[in-house]
Amino acid sequence: MNKITVVGTGYVGLVSGTGLADFGNQVVCVDIDTEKIALLQNDEIPIFEPGLKEVVDRNVAHGRLSFSTNIEKAIQESEVIFIGVGTPEGENGEADLTAVFAVAELIAKNLNDYKIVCTKSTVPIGTGEKIINIIEQSKKTNNTFDYVSNPEFLREGAAVQDFLKPDRVVLGVTSEQAVKILRDVYRPLYINETPIITTNVPTAEMIKYASNAFLALKISYINEIANLCEAVGADVHTVAKAMGSDGRISPKFLHPGPGFGGSCFPKDTKALVATSKKLNETIRTVEKAIEVNNNQKSRMVNKLFNLLDNDIDGKTIAVLGLSFKHMTDDVRESAAIEMIEKILGNGGNVKAYDPEGMANMKKIFPDIIYCNDWESAVQSADAGVIMTEWHEFRGLDLVKVKDLLKSPIILDTRNILSMSKLIDLGFTFDNVGRKSVL
Ligand code: UDX
Repeated sequence: MNKITVVGTGYVGLVSGTGLADFGNQVVCVDIDTEKIALLQNDEIPIFEPGLKEVVDRNVAHGRLSFSTNIEKAIQESEVIFIGVGTPEGENGEADLTAVFAVAELIAKNLNDYKIVCTKSTVPIGTGEKIINIIEQSKKTNNTFDYVSNPEFLREGAAVQDFLKPDRVVLGVTSEQAVKILRDVYRPLYINETPIITTNVPTAEMIKYASNAFLALKISYINEIANLCEAVGADVHTVAKAMGSDGRISPKFLHPGPGFGGSCFPKDTKALVATSKKLNETIRTVEKAIEVNNNQKSRMVNKLFNLLDNDIDGKTIAVLGLSFKHMTDDVRESAAIEMIEKILGNGGNVKAYDPEGMANMKKIFPDIIYCNDWESAVQSADAGVIMTEWHEFRGLDLVKVKDLLKSPIILDTRNILSMSKLIDLGFTFDNVGRKSVL
């Protein structure tokens, strides 16, 4: 059993700290955000993450998991410190590492014994070396430490299962000692033969970016194939199904849509391109994936405007889905943001509904109408647009939708509605890469 501190209690830090406790370690999750820590100490979870509360409760009850704002004390009492703070997009697409470096300074000042410093946050390639230098130069004792890059591969909305049952664990290490200790930290996974890939620090950092950027590239690829399907009268669902049957391609991340969002793909692809440009090795494929993604979001707006004969002024649009994907309350970089922006910018009005994302979207668009259910949003709207593939939208009663809308016009950016039903009911509709096929 290892004594661990996880610094940062956001999507990554809180899930990781809870998961590490579930693996039998003694974990304290710390944060400078006193409100967040107070909520956690009061058995409230500050983020929407299915299944997280049960795992938190289980480990708090067993005394393996606690929350504190006393970061220094936690560091002093721990053998392994995980850095799980935010690395938001900064200037020219580079990640903002202010919080990460601040934690490194704190660790240096509280290095009262040998410790392992483990970065879980997604940091640009080469950051590990900077963290090591900061600690070496700022430490107040001669105590030694080792460094590990241990990137996360957590999908929002599936983060708990992704942590407890990962496809692989990546450890970029500076010593064998670090490998031994981290293997013990992840002991339950080690026993059930989850691949634990041990390498050097830059390689581990690269694995994270290469993985995320590839997934983003795959999405931009299928989105462009979908757009071409529209021009040639092909059905992108069938194309994706047949492609995915090839084991080398896999069916995952081949769902066309309004463009990827979230706190990772947009940020990580830009950070990787920024790093590659600085080193004069520009990754043009990822650069293009970003461009394609931006275009895809604008393409969805054009589709809606075309359905309304480019006459949006004074029209009311029901926007169903605000979060960047289903099963999360996170709206960061959601395709719904550009959609709402352009509707409002052209004199339109928005009635929005999302099962989880409305509180976060209100911080961006406080003045649009937020409805308690999809029916209220659709009631008397001139058109509807589905932006997020929530299950309740997959089962929309289209007869009811038609009755509630002023006119039967709907844009399905997630291809979740039955085209045959839309046609039978006389809807004017569009989607992504399928409309021309009956
Ligand atoms: C992603 C990575 O999947 C995860 O491994 C990494 O640790 C963090 O970033 P996340 O951003 O939470 O996770 O969500 P993900 O499920 O990957 O979806 C990202 C975006 O791509 C969403 O906007 C989603 O709607 C979109 N997407 C995903 C598609 O448009 N098509 C797909 O087939 C899959």
